[in-house]
Amino acid sequence: MCDRVRVKSWHICVLFVLLNLPHIRSETECDIPNQKATGVCRSSVQCQVYTKLLEQRPLHGDTINFLRQLQCDEENSICCTHQGDYVDPSIENDPSTRKVRPHFEEEVANRFGPEDELPTLKQCGNSLGNRIIGGKIAGIDDFPWTALLLYESGTSSKRSIGCGGALISRNYVLTAAHCILESGDSTKGSLVAVRLGEYNTETTEDCIQEADGLDCAEPSEDIEVMKMMAHTNYTWSRSDKVHDIGLLKLARSTKFTDFIQPICLPMNGINPGIVNGQKLSVAGWGQTDMFRDERGFQVSPVKLKISLPIIDILQCSLAYRPYGFLPGPGHVCAGGRKSEDTCPGDSGSPLMHFSREKGKWVASGVVSFGLNGCGADGIPGIYTRVDAYIPWILSMMETN
Ligand SMILES: *[C@@H]1O[C@H](CO)[C@@H](O)[C@H](O)[C@H]1NC(C)=O
Repeated sequence: MCDRVRVKSWHICVLFVLLNLPHIRSETECDIPNQKATGVCRSSVQCQVYTKLLEQRPLHGDTINFLRQLQCDEENSICCTHQGDYVDPSIENDPSTRKVRPHFEEEVANRFGPEDELPTLKQCGNSLGNRIIGGKIAGIDDFPWTALLLYESGTSSKRSIGCGGALISRNYVLTAAHCILESGDSTKGSLVAVRLGEYNTETTEDCIQEADGLDCAEPSEDIEVMKMMAHTNYTWSRSDKVHDIGLLKLARSTKFTDFIQPICLPMNGINPGIVNGQKLSVAGWGQTDMFRDERGFQVSPVKLKISLPIIDILQCSLAYRPYGFLPGPGHVCAGGRKSEDTCPGDSGSPLMHFSREKGKWVASGVVSFGLNGCGADGIPGIYTRVDAYIPWILSMMETN
């Protein structure tokens, strides 16, 4: 770098290098609600007072509101105290400030065949959430394609959440093959329905007190699954975990709202952003086993998000070598940096890229597996590459 800029003095060169080191950057001051003393922007993992609050159970709405207002602009970063606890970590919902959302206008088009089933570029990948970056708690309208898969076990008619997925059109949800196939014999039971538009799994009407008013989501919707399609060549052995992708056809079309939207697929010139070091996002409730760490990470009632870097496939192979697994061309590795927090995702949830060029979110991967959660022991998580399965997805939509 120094050679290239041909600096005359080594002093300037050293200074230049120092300025480029991210950890030298001074911490940004930020405001904390309900108190005079300011705080500093930090990664949430480096802020115990924050983590302690987020892991409180039950996690009350007024705590969620408070945590939501601690976001800094930098990725995965929140406003931490300089020292000690937050003075009053609570913001109550104030129904008198309730915001009115403009009525969502759905574009009506005549649709025939699989090409028309998929939303147009204009209709997919739109997240109204205005605070995508920063924080850990997703906004009430962030990632509106996030789906929860509901299972029923023979003994109980009570449905439980077992996996995640991504809505890609009015009728189809993309997920992992293992969320479909292994549901029969596990404790989860059988996959029966999909929940769309969920935010807080513990409240019927989900509301967030924002600085400019109370924002409420429409109630979530459970739709029965009509058809489950796991990739036929999916295998799950110790060394060979391939084609972990599946598609669910819903029993009825969903309506798109501010809280239910399809994500774009990496096709027709939309780039999946799978470039080493590029940060992609995962969102979810951590309801599945795979993302719980040794501390016994508890599932979250509220939608969480995190951004994770894409890891070089060679480096990823080395990390998995002791476990006898070799990632292949249908895999993408992300996360696994020790300092990063546990992933909030669920198996089958999307690994998402925001294409700045198009201003769209795209499903680049499907959460497949990891070792004790992402970030644990420096081992990246393994995702199925969606761009490798576009022909498969289209052919499934065509014939089902
Ligand atoms: C599954 O594998 C067989 C044999 O390699 C191949 O012919 C077939 O096209 C594969 N199926 C899919 C859906 O990729």
